[in-house]
Amino acid sequence: MSIMQVIKARRSIRLYKDNKVPDKDLLELIEAGTWAPSGSNIQPWYFIIVTDDHVLEQVSAFSPGLLGNPPAVIVACCDKQLAFEKGGELGRGELCVMDLCMASQNIMLMAAEKGLGTCPIKSFNGPALKKILKLPDHISPELVLSVGYPKNSPEAPLRKATTDVAYFNVWEGAQ
Ligand SMILES: Cc1cc2nc3c(=O)[nH]c(=O)nc-3n(C[C@H](O)[C@H](O)[C@H](O)COP(=O)(O)O)c2cc1C
Repeated sequence: MSIMQVIKARRSIRLYKDNKVPDKDLLELIEAGTWAPSGSNIQPWYFIIVTDDHVLEQVSAFSPGLLGNPPAVIVACCDKQLAFEKGGELGRGELCVMDLCMASQNIMLMAAEKGLGTCPIKSFNGPALKKILKLPDHISPELVLSVGYPKNSPEAPLRKATTDVAYFNVWEGAQ
């Protein structure tokens, strides 16, 4: 698939088959994540790969946005201490979140290319996930990604037209 085909093929999947995803495939997704750009190349990321049914159940119980019983989730976490040490307030704030978003998109595109479904999930209880995953204080869960073999192929939600959202040089209509 071309990069554009992969970008368009990626869908948020909310229904999964029971099949487990091999660890080596999950690690390949993380590898794709670590090749994302990162502000000042701080790479403040950690990725907790959850495949154990008991831990999955606990994560699920505190993640209302997580649907479809995925066989794995990746919890994309930010090392706030490292981000602050290397990047100050900006690093700990915006850069950190942007880095995690970029890594997450890489993970989801790599998964799409491998025929795996994913869904980014922000609707979760951060403090509860920190406890369940035994995260140290300075590690903050930013995004949960469900991962598995899709049980369905949802229609692509409509996109805004490129010409409606892209202006050359200055805001269209500005004087
Ligand atoms: C920051 C962010 C948070 C999201 N949170 C959730 C969520 O909690 N639960 C969910 O089912 N989908 C969630 N989504 C997925 C969006 O609903 C989905 O990307 C959007 O409807 C477009 O569909 P597509 O991903 O299939 O193109 C989230 C997406 C983003 C980018």
